[in-house]
Amino acid sequence: MKTYDIAVIGGDGTGPEVVREAVKVLDAAAKKFSLKLNYTNYDFGGERYLRTGEVLPESAVGELRKFRAILLGAIGHPDVKPGILEKGILLRLRFELEQYINLRPVRLYDARYCPLKDKGPEDIDFVVVRENNEGLYTGSGGFVFKGTPNEIAVQESINTRRGVERCLRYAFDYARKRRGGQPWKGLKPEDVAAGRKAQLTLSGKTNVLTYAFDLWERAFHEVGAKDYPDVKRDYAHVDATTMWFVKNPEWFDVIVTDNMFGDIITDLGAMIQGGMGIAAGGNINPEGSSMFEPIGGSAPKYTGKHVINPLAAVCAGAMLLDHLGETTAAKAIEDAVIKSVREKLKSLAAGKMGFTTEQVGDLVAAAL
Ligand code: IPM
Ligand code: MN
Repeated sequence: MKTYDIAVIGGDGTGPEVVREAVKVLDAAAKKFSLKLNYTNYDFGGERYLRTGEVLPESAVGELRKFRAILLGAIGHPDVKPGILEKGILLRLRFELEQYINLRPVRLYDARYCPLKDKGPEDIDFVVVRENNEGLYTGSGGFVFKGTPNEIAVQESINTRRGVERCLRYAFDYARKRRGGQPWKGLKPEDVAAGRKAQLTLSGKTNVLTYAFDLWERAFHEVGAKDYPDVKRDYAHVDATTMWFVKNPEWFDVIVTDNMFGDIITDLGAMIQGGMGIAAGGNINPEGSSMFEPIGGSAPKYTGKHVINPLAAVCAGAMLLDHLGETTAAKAIEDAVIKSVREKLKSLAAGKMGFTTEQVGDLVAAAL
């Protein structure tokens, strides 16, 4: 029997509630596909910080490094100043575990949940590959003359050739593999005739950020032309990208972008796929320890009310299994989610699903 050790961080607010349902579904999948999943729980989060004054214990990073996969609920507590937990836990783990990819699939499972007129599941099915270790997120910068009328605040975007290139290569590889060798439906006949099977769109801002995205654009074309001639290269400014997400989401196959732009466009992506209740992501270190999470926050106002949608966490669990190489089990979970949202749920929004958090977990486990 194949055995996997998984670290679980429920975290704050509704985090533990949704993670419980994700584990329920993972266990159902494990039973069906004869896997053994061993969980180790960690209590990192706002409660622990308020109790101990420590954001992450000294040993945390070293311990988590031993796991190839981590399941995370949510980080963020109403009684803790914004930034402390986000930087001290989430961003610290992303950086120190070198999870340099943030992978966010945007897939609409049922037309009923889409806020866009005349768009359905065949139109909204793309993946955003967000750089996850650099850009505006490194904390580089500072204040001069803080608190005076002459105050200066500088926040720098860090873009290294190495960091950009490894992200681009991951995105090209992902685009190549995504359809299992089948050409992406949005390609023009001449692309297919020329042997191109996938499309990778670089989303940037080459008209204004003429240093950072100059590096990105050069690396994109160099790497693409040399090593990925079968992937069609496409470019869109980030502002136009948000426009196309609403107007023509069917134009996208895989998108690659920097940390900040990726943060912004994936919230919009989550909305067009049905909301935060369904949107999942993975913080990936292909050679190390990766962490999967529902992308919505800790939702304090819904905590303990049994109304939060656990499907984003369940989908994060599916991504986790896929990452571990259990692609059949991962696909089975996704199919069970699709069946549940198409046949049972009334809405994907908290409190409007027609079921409690626990019942939604049961529905998916039963569909499996
Ligand atoms: C996300 C979140 C985080 C980010 C926050 C909580 C630091 O918004 O995962 O997208 O900005 O990356
Ligand atoms: Mn975000």
